[in-house]
Amino acid sequence: MVRMEDIPVKELICSAMEARKKAYVPYSDYMVGAAVLTNELRIYTGCNIENASYTPTICAERTAISKAVSEGWRRFQAIAIVGGPRGDKITQYAFPCGVCRQVIREFADPDRFIVIVAKDENDYRQYRLSELLPESFGPENINV
Ligand code: THU
Repeated sequence: MVRMEDIPVKELICSAMEARKKAYVPYSDYMVGAAVLTNELRIYTGCNIENASYTPTICAERTAISKAVSEGWRRFQAIAIVGGPRGDKITQYAFPCGVCRQVIREFADPDRFIVIVAKDENDYRQYRLSELLPESFGPENINV
């Protein structure tokens, strides 16, 4: 586990911005990119992928985590998220939805995991997962 100051924040944000370009968003036109950092310092990216039937839509965060988990990586220490209406200029911080917070929780220590929401690599905020999802329910509650 690396220390907070060792997390490659700018690289994560740039990776998320690159992934955002791939967003498939014909219904909302709201493009999101995410980049997750494994405990082993690998980066997996994802974008949101919408669907004509709406509910099958998958968020960028869950795309990134699904890619990593399906490749065998199950422990994460940070995620960067970049989201906003179609266009290169991001004018808002896009926070993860409740479902994504819970999915991150499955594979993260809430007191250590860092959520970075960014407008660009020089304009971002960071939070512990436990700030965004307090008093959470996780695998330890079942696997006692
Ligand atoms: N979206 C994400 O990708 N991540 C979030 O955490 C919130 C919402 C996507 C889903 C949908 O494609 C679009 O943003 C508008 O809700």
